[in-house]
Amino acid sequence: KSILVLHGPNLNLLGLREPAHYGRDTLDSINAKLTAQAAQAGITLEAFQSNSEAELVGKVQQLAGKRVDFIIINPAAYTHTSIALRDALAAVAIPFIEVHLSNIHAREQFRHHSYFSDLAVGVICGLGARGYLLALDYAINTNVET
Ligand code: DQA
Repeated sequence: KSILVLHGPNLNLLGLREPAHYGRDTLDSINAKLTAQAAQAGITLEAFQSNSEAELVGKVQQLAGKRVDFIIINPAAYTHTSIALRDALAAVAIPFIEVHLSNIHAREQFRHHSYFSDLAVGVICGLGARGYLLALDYAINTNVET
């Protein structure tokens, strides 16, 4: 099994950025925990962060024809804006879980809508960094029909 974790814009600042919303864990520490959890299950995990919509779309497009079984994605601000990234995920048709550290529904109105949720296998939000680990547990232990 192979899993790709995608982190959107500003998530490279985790640990420093608005800790009340996003916690104190850095992106590196989150990726390290995910990698350890995947390794324990004998699964390959790649993590990729970008502040650029074009790079994220490109990364998803490259998956066409590759054996990636699951994507875990926190599209960050692109959650609320990016039809392009949504369309890329729809194009490659790889099952994905949408993760947000904060509870986007308890925040500003503009964060309540996601361009991804209706396509996602599931959505986890508000559980902080643990949300990624819970999503990975699901991805490891579930076979989704595609
Ligand atoms: C976020 C929530 C988004 O609204 C925000 O733009 C982010 C992070 C989260 O993980 O809580 O950058 O996706």
